[in-house]
Amino acid sequence: MDEREAARRIEELRKEIEYHNYRYYTLQDPEITDAEYDALLRELIELEEKFPHLSTDDSPTKRVGAPPAEEFVKAEHRLPMLSLQNAFNEGEMREFHDRVVRLLGTDRVEYVAEVKMDGVAVELIYEEGHLARGLTRGDGYTGEDVTNNVRTIMAIPLVLKGGGGEIPPLLEVRGEVFMEKEAFRKLNRLRAEKGEPLFANPRNAASGSLRQLDPKITARRPLKFFAYGVGVVEGKALSSQWETLNYLESLGIPVNAKRRLCQSLEEVLAFYAEVEEEREALPYEADGVVVKVNSFEQQRRLGEISRSPRYAIAYKFPPTQATTVVEDIIVQVGRTGVLTPVAVLRPVRVGGVEVKRATLHNMDEIERKDIRIGDTVIVQRAGDVIPEVVKSIPSKRTGRERKFAMPEECPACGAPVVRVEGEAAHRCTGENCLARRKEQIKHFVSRNAMNIEGLGDKIINLLIEEGLVTTPADLYRLTVEDLKDLPRLGEKSAKNLVEAIERSRQTSLARFIFALGIRHVGEHLSQVLAEKFGSVERLSEASYDELIEIPEVGPEVARSIVSFFEKEENRKLVEEMLRAGVRPEKPEERATKGKLEGLTLLFTGALKTMTREEAKKKVLAEGGKVASSVSKKVDILVVGEDPGRKLEEARKLGIRTVSEEEFLEMLGEE
Ligand code: IVH
Repeated sequence: MDEREAARRIEELRKEIEYHNYRYYTLQDPEITDAEYDALLRELIELEEKFPHLSTDDSPTKRVGAPPAEEFVKAEHRLPMLSLQNAFNEGEMREFHDRVVRLLGTDRVEYVAEVKMDGVAVELIYEEGHLARGLTRGDGYTGEDVTNNVRTIMAIPLVLKGGGGEIPPLLEVRGEVFMEKEAFRKLNRLRAEKGEPLFANPRNAASGSLRQLDPKITARRPLKFFAYGVGVVEGKALSSQWETLNYLESLGIPVNAKRRLCQSLEEVLAFYAEVEEEREALPYEADGVVVKVNSFEQQRRLGEISRSPRYAIAYKFPPTQATTVVEDIIVQVGRTGVLTPVAVLRPVRVGGVEVKRATLHNMDEIERKDIRIGDTVIVQRAGDVIPEVVKSIPSKRTGRERKFAMPEECPACGAPVVRVEGEAAHRCTGENCLARRKEQIKHFVSRNAMNIEGLGDKIINLLIEEGLVTTPADLYRLTVEDLKDLPRLGEKSAKNLVEAIERSRQTSLARFIFALGIRHVGEHLSQVLAEKFGSVERLSEASYDELIEIPEVGPEVARSIVSFFEKEENRKLVEEMLRAGVRPEKPEERATKGKLEGLTLLFTGALKTMTREEAKKKVLAEGGKVASSVSKKVDILVVGEDPGRKLEEARKLGIRTVSEEEFLEMLGEE
């Protein structure tokens, strides 16, 4: 390839890769598989290596991280990054509103209500549409230059999209860098295994990851970004907050879709109530709702006091930390045999929920935080359904506190406990440990695994204690006869249970792989492995070298998969389940031809004659694609009963809508 040709291809690849980043991170609606994406990136890396002078700073290849820096360089913000006043209850929100109304001399005030993301504030400076610099907020006037770090965050575009107009010569975007709760949990899990100190919450994880002198470390941390405002803007007139957010979105910058233009304080309060209600289920941590006067003209008239604007306020959620006493420390045995120390707490309300127990993670964490039985401690529910002890308060000690030690024998089965070199975890070595078996089966039947309804913890405990079940394969041999005389069960529930187990035989390969509970193999990876190998048999024969080839699989994960299938008992388990009639199906492959060839469909509302899953299969079988959210890519929206917001959004984009009946007609069905 000559240089001219290489330059052209490099340009083409960069555009394409940035486009797919945008599909994935901003629209959350990817068009290509991870493997296809990797192939594009690899091609670009190779070309840039061959022609180094064609490599530029805003190439997507730079997202792997520049060489480490000695220290962060300080940089001034052109406009200060102010902070917000807080409101903690409805009364304080009414005071805020009354003040706004009084100062403006009108009660016709529009507000924009946004989610207050709990992350780190950054400013991204785009010059001629290219990401030129990224700064932390710092003290509001001077921040740190973290350009090489923000470049590694995939959600942050290196180059702006057209936006249906001119690209502004200068655009300062402000927003929050954050880590999703799931990613945070995973990061901490890995750190716990390596014996590294854990992050207390997603915000600390985001901030610690962003402020790394080595950008390669930042690159490995799954950070995200949502914009919420602008600093200096040249070449584009913006007159309101709402317009600004939509404008940023049109440039390809991620903006939280959960936002609302409100005509009254009442609408603002309703938005707050909705987000608070949803709070636990949100993928990210939010600590409140930010309310801003919409009109920039009104904002200017309101001005600011003591470094915070009078036109905005943060309406905070109730705290998710509380102080209480550790009454005891007990040990739980997990499905892989890991012993987890758990604090038994004097019951306390945290963020509206009563907490009686909190995880202490492992022995290293107990020692690092110096937590003793009898200590007064701070507990929190941070991006985690499981509450945790953040720290002890040594000044409250009376001298009667006791240090905790890990038991030398498993509290469930009495087998020796070992601590593997280089690992933070203590493990039970008993292969037949009842506690392990119980956890294994709980995981196997759980909703995202085999999804066996009605098989709760109590029944599982009973089944194991009665000796009816020792491995998940035994579930498939249970009969109504076996179950009906168990306490609290009865004939009817026994029948339902056997039927639920029966139904679970038909499952997807991904669910089955996940259900096996291989260490480090979560839901997403199970999906990847299912697509790659197509059957458990093939997966069980995969070699280390074959596994490590997969982009999502690292050395530790590859080793874990190989060692799982090396164990005789695991091979036997899989074999028995297959023999018992469990039928993991290969992932659906999209037909290349059919009645829906080239079309992308989206569903909203409940379907009468089939489940979503069935509808999806039909679309794939006819060569169509199924989208998960509204975008210009969607050709047809299938509208069921009680359609959601998607219908409204689709109408705005002029997307064709069809009823369930019409959808069936398109497929040639009645
Ligand atoms: S507006 C003058 N909007 O909360 C307006 N801030 O003290 C300044 N934050 O450091 C910020 N989500 O990092 C705004 N939707 C949002 C936000 C938000 C999170 C953070 C921001 C700032 C702090 C406010």
